[in-house]
Amino acid sequence: MFVRLWHRNFHIHDLLLAISLVTLIVYLSLPFRFASHYDYIEGSQIEGALVPQVTRNVSLQEVFECTYSEIIAANRFVYNLAHYHEAVHNGGEIRPGGEFRPEQCQARYSTAIIVPYRQREEQLHAFLTYMHNYLRQQLIHYRIFLVEQYDHKPFNRAMLFNIGAQVAAEYGFPCLILSDVDLLPLNSGQMYACTEKPRHMCSALDHWRFRLPYRSLFGGVVAINTVQFQQINGMSNLYHGWGGEDDDLYERLNAMGIDICRFAMEFSEYTMLKHKPEKPNKNRVALLRAAALRQHSDGLNSLVYKEVERRMHSLFTHILVET
Ligand code: UDP
Ligand code: BGC
Ligand code: MN
Repeated sequence: MFVRLWHRNFHIHDLLLAISLVTLIVYLSLPFRFASHYDYIEGSQIEGALVPQVTRNVSLQEVFECTYSEIIAANRFVYNLAHYHEAVHNGGEIRPGGEFRPEQCQARYSTAIIVPYRQREEQLHAFLTYMHNYLRQQLIHYRIFLVEQYDHKPFNRAMLFNIGAQVAAEYGFPCLILSDVDLLPLNSGQMYACTEKPRHMCSALDHWRFRLPYRSLFGGVVAINTVQFQQINGMSNLYHGWGGEDDDLYERLNAMGIDICRFAMEFSEYTMLKHKPEKPNKNRVALLRAAALRQHSDGLNSLVYKEVERRMHSLFTHILVET
């Protein structure tokens, strides 16, 4: 009796151990694929790679130009700073519509930060608080545009970016940063300004264990000059639901011979706020296959939507749309 019990216990224990080991091995080998090598811009080359360009109101400011070399060289890990998370520090400097420009010096970069959005309130709150604290230390001129999908159709991330880009261009912004609402930069030197080549910014994401899953990944947070975005006819309007629209953007750039770039990993660490996965778009692979063929007929030149409301909040410009 004693022996049998012992044996039974032994078997269960053994099984549990085997399951734990297999789980551990699977976990350790994730992600299953990642880009073993990719080109990146070293810290010392970053300032030279950024394109100096500002909106008209900034160019008329009569003060000395801000300097950026110390900001880039310092590249501090700022995610652990409690005051970046607690509240918008010294919020009075931010203008209605979520716009900021330094007063003590003339910014060298003007950037429209475009965020596609629907029903992620907690993330939005965290994003706005953190980003306004983060961005102001970079001494750039920026404005946050939140493009909210008001209808109940599947979420159309790329179309919301097209809308945001069009509005940002009306406001004269020469540089667009297309950003998910749940991605926060960890290093202070990931400048929210455009490089000559479109830039994939969140290449070391904690969700991917700080590795790049594949070399042509061009999603999450990217920077692109407004003129380049217009040249490629923006993004596709046809991706309803999760996935593929960012790969489609990469295909468009590729088809036009436009190369992308990234900053070195120590500038490109991001965290993704936790959320449940969205429902994938079953059509995405088929759409992606014909990305380059559709590029000239599907995008900014075929964009149709209804602007329900545009409102200036204290921390962002809110564009409510029906797709
Ligand atoms: N998004 C949103 N509401 C949704 C789905 C998506 O606001 O219901 C926006 C949000 O900015 C989000 C981005 O689209 O960060 C990308 O979606 P998601 O985070 O689900 O994709 P992931 O990159 O995590 O796979
Ligand atoms: C999807 C992209 C997504 C990437 C990383 C790809 O399979 O097509 O939209 O950004 O995976 O999640
Ligand atoms: Mn996400």
